[in-house]
Amino acid sequence: MRILVCGGAGYIGSHACTVLAERGHDLLIADSFVNSSPRVLERLQRITGCPVFFQKADLRDRDEVEALFRGPRFDAVVHFAALKAVGESCERPLDYFDNNISGTIHLLQAMQGAGVKRLVFSSSATVYGDPDSVPVREDATLRITNPYGRTKLVMEQLIGDVCESDPSFRAANLRYFNPVGAHPSGLIGEDPGGTPNNLMPYISQVAIGRRQRLQVFGGDWPTVDGTGVRDYIHVMDLARAHADAIDYLAAADRNLTVNLGTGRGISVLELAHAFAVASGRDIPCDIVGRRAGDVAEVYADPALAHALLGWRAELDVAAMCRDAWRWQSMNPGGYGEAAVFATGKPPGSERTAAVAVG
Ligand SMILES: NC(=O)c1ccc[n+]([C@@H]2O[C@H](COP(=O)([O-])OP(=O)(O)OC[C@H]3O[C@@H](n4cnc5c(N)ncnc54)[C@H](O)[C@@H]3O)[C@@H](O)[C@H]2O)c1
Repeated sequence: MRILVCGGAGYIGSHACTVLAERGHDLLIADSFVNSSPRVLERLQRITGCPVFFQKADLRDRDEVEALFRGPRFDAVVHFAALKAVGESCERPLDYFDNNISGTIHLLQAMQGAGVKRLVFSSSATVYGDPDSVPVREDATLRITNPYGRTKLVMEQLIGDVCESDPSFRAANLRYFNPVGAHPSGLIGEDPGGTPNNLMPYISQVAIGRRQRLQVFGGDWPTVDGTGVRDYIHVMDLARAHADAIDYLAAADRNLTVNLGTGRGISVLELAHAFAVASGRDIPCDIVGRRAGDVAEVYADPALAHALLGWRAELDVAAMCRDAWRWQSMNPGGYGEAAVFATGKPPGSERTAAVAVG
């Protein structure tokens, strides 16, 4: 299939591109680079062995979005493009509504104009807020606790309304739990600018010596060791689910909303310990007070994704830490710094075939 991947230069999108390309799909990546680096494209090309087709576009700009659809018709769109920092969304809610919600409206309008009727959407476990019970099923009450979460819920609802209005339009809402890890090549991974918002990149940066110690928010939660419990999922498992969802939408005549998690909760201290084992480095931790808005324990019931997509997470926490550490140690400064390639050649020493279209 010919697939448009919006936000495909980002963390999860780039990993999904490796799987989609491996399954033989032709991809056009569209991204504004608001939270990613053009260097991802060269790396993707090295991994896939194919030219990477890219068009710079900001989904907030209706004309740029329409321009994406001027070439041969896409069979499907995968939509990763969003701002995703919870704290920032509380400080700048309107920017989040503009980027995430307006961007999605422009994308849906352009899809409608071009007659493209298959959409895979990056939703989030954040739509459950503080769930009443765990594991969380898809029919749990949806509760919004911050503006970022509101954008994800509104985007799901907008997409749902489009599906209602046009029975031939099909969408898959994939509710991710906590994506971590990196591609096994070490060439692509999570590269947060500034202080990481998520736990795994923070731990990696402590391991590599970029940060001194890990601050653990709350040691008195009612959990296995008093620290918060989440459902960490390897980004390559997550990536595979996008290709499965594309296949599902091509074959089935129904829409889809599924959790993507392992179904296993892991505490902060368990993850830090697993990372210390994988990296051979100490992860010094300080337990500090709880953070406002945090919850004790959230993990998925992933049974529906297995039933409908035949998908289940396969990679364990040791693999998540091993791959995150490989990425971190090969790229200590993220995409801003040269990777140590197995060939010994610096990046860019070979001609890149990354093609900018349009
Ligand atoms: N990483 C997580 O923990 C997590 C969890 C649940 C859901 N999600 C969702 O998954 C998706 C991907 O997340 P990620 O972790 O890869 O984030 P990311 O920031 O690494 O990737 C998002 C990509 O979208 C691009 N983008 C953002 N706004 C854009 C716009 N207006 N126009 C064009 N490109 C734009 C960014 O430049 C970036 O390359 C997001 O929608 C996010 O909300 C992420």
